[in-house]
Amino acid sequence: MGAEKQVALVTGASSGIGRATAAKLAEQGFQVIAAARRMERLEQLAREVKGIIPRQVDLADPEDVENFCRYIGELDDPVGVLVNNAGYSIRGALEDVIIDAARRLYQVNVFSLMRVTQACLPGMRKMRKGTVVNLSSVVGKLAFPLSGVYASTKYAVEGITDALRVEVRPFGIRVVAIRPGFIATEFNEVGNEMTGNLMERTDPEYQALYAASGAAVGKLFVDATVPGPDLIGDIIVEAVLSENPKAVYWGGFMSEEWLQARAGKNDEEFSRYLAETTGLHDLKV
Ligand SMILES: NC(=O)c1ccc[n+]([C@@H]2O[C@H](COP(=O)([O-])OP(=O)(O)OC[C@H]3O[C@@H](n4cnc5c(N)ncnc54)[C@H](OP(=O)(O)O)[C@@H]3O)[C@@H](O)[C@H]2O)c1
Repeated sequence: MGAEKQVALVTGASSGIGRATAAKLAEQGFQVIAAARRMERLEQLAREVKGIIPRQVDLADPEDVENFCRYIGELDDPVGVLVNNAGYSIRGALEDVIIDAARRLYQVNVFSLMRVTQACLPGMRKMRKGTVVNLSSVVGKLAFPLSGVYASTKYAVEGITDALRVEVRPFGIRVVAIRPGFIATEFNEVGNEMTGNLMERTDPEYQALYAASGAAVGKLFVDATVPGPDLIGDIIVEAVLSENPKAVYWGGFMSEEWLQARAGKNDEEFSRYLAETTGLHDLKV
């Protein structure tokens, strides 16, 4: 598929994977609508890279999402490439998750992704071509303990992506899931901020779990090289430019190991493996 000034829309383009992807698509000749809340970051990107159109949207605010969808519907040239990238995480054992925080997380990671996709599909159907790229995660296929609610949003993204891929294939629209492992972006920092002080609100009984899991997961990162967002940006551009993109791509620290472990084990075996790897298997409280 050639670029020929096609319109691409990248959500979450003010930082990390989205920023890298928006820049790379613009360098390939796409007109890139770069959307996020932090307008000054988007304007900075537009100054650095030709072909970026900054657009502010708060994907946690359903009314703002509707305004954004109206804007998408009224574009002279419809969006041909949609990269649903905006997202964040919250952590915590299920008992420690504040339900309103989970609702907001679902709004950004799942409902707004659905809604923005709905807004782009009519234009793609009319053109009989288009590409939808959904940022899932390794945790779209396996859920780490003490972080299950975030994983559940990515399981939802996987389900939506799998069905959509088959639904819109007859219109010539391709749908791709991306499953990053750990990638060095602002993701962790934002996750900490959105989670708040877990240790202050958790029942003391859980503290042993957080400590054991923190130590086990920390070990994985000793001497690790965690790649930056360009790795995933390059994968997304490869998928977009490919005549025949794969259904799923992955990349990043531990992505291969975790996804292979999940695919190669039955549910029983994988649950044990996960408990062992995250330091919780032999824990008794
Ligand atoms: N980094 C990783 O290790 C990793 C691994 C697997 C999957 N992922 C997924 O990859 C995607 C990108 O993450 P990243 O690592 O690049 O994180 P990041 O650097 O924190 O970037 C997240 C982007 O999402 C945008 N965003 C967050 N809340 C938003 C809201 N309410 N409205 C509009 N935009 C919003 C942010 O923009 P504003 O704050 O300016 O609004 C920012 O541009 C996410 O879906 C994430 O779940 C990341």
